[in-house]
Amino acid sequence: MMAQTDVLGLDGAAAIVLGVGPGMGLETVRVLASAGARVTCVDLQEDIAESAKELAAELGSEGMALTGDATDRSFVDSVVEQSVSRWGRLDSSVSIIGRNQLATLEESTDENWTSNWDINLRPPLLLTQASAKAMKKQGSGSIVVITSINGTLSSPRAAAYGAAKAGLVSMMRTAAVEFGRSGVRVNAISPGVVLTPRISFLAGSEEGAQFEARIPMGRLGSPHEIANTALFLASPMSSYVTGQVIGVDGGASVAYQLPTPEWKQH
Ligand SMILES: NC(=O)c1ccc[n+]([C@@H]2O[C@H](COP(=O)([O-])OP(=O)(O)OC[C@H]3O[C@@H](n4cnc5c(N)ncnc54)[C@H](O)[C@@H]3O)[C@@H](O)[C@H]2O)c1
Repeated sequence: MMAQTDVLGLDGAAAIVLGVGPGMGLETVRVLASAGARVTCVDLQEDIAESAKELAAELGSEGMALTGDATDRSFVDSVVEQSVSRWGRLDSSVSIIGRNQLATLEESTDENWTSNWDINLRPPLLLTQASAKAMKKQGSGSIVVITSINGTLSSPRAAAYGAAKAGLVSMMRTAAVEFGRSGVRVNAISPGVVLTPRISFLAGSEEGAQFEARIPMGRLGSPHEIANTALFLASPMSSYVTGQVIGVDGGASVAYQLPTPEWKQH
């Protein structure tokens, strides 16, 4: 068991981050490298993976850039193999990749369902399977996946995305149960509305204000707040946490909206 004085330090640890574009992925590389972890930075786009690797080096750690399609099992297996070969171990894996490809149920095609499942469920599944093999050998490790508030709460045009994210939570829980005795922990982060580049148009907009009005903390989240939660889950600070979904949503997932804040039942 860790000593009482242990903090978030990850000196000498090795991590993989899948999907390192500006936003949650790059911020996760930033916080892991700042805490001392060496980071394998993986993305479909070479320039994005290279920038993340350079960021790790600028922060006094080390990075390795790998480019490929994380829906391809042989590529993800090779990411873990190259990572273990380079750093000698694997302490944490964080899978960021995911996207809401919107469609109403009436207009939703087989292609829409398949692509939502492929991009939201397949990369974290493949990384969990490959990481667990390496982590079980060393008897420790932490796997983190990113689900969504849409995996729990419903909104129009998000059936396929929500089903994939809910499925991801189910996979994560099973992994936590199966790997528990091997020292491998598996958890999920469930973001609410987070100002990533994809939805940066919400900042300061009327639409953004409408979201904020429904969030108990009254503001949208930042990628850094997701990354800090990933750091907590990757570190020994969370040594007894497994199979959990941590909502990072300003309280949005626990709020039941009344007609007005002052409304009283008569
Ligand atoms: N932004 C939000 O408000 C919000 C809310 C809830 C959940 N989420 C979840 O957070 C995560 C991050 O969202 P984001 O908008 O920052 O993502 P993003 O699409 O901006 O970043 C994902 C990165 O993954 C890379 N990528 C995409 N497909 C890939 C593939 N097949 N192989 C390898 N790399 C690939 C992209 O190049 C990109 O750099 C997603 O899982 C998303 O579902 C976001």
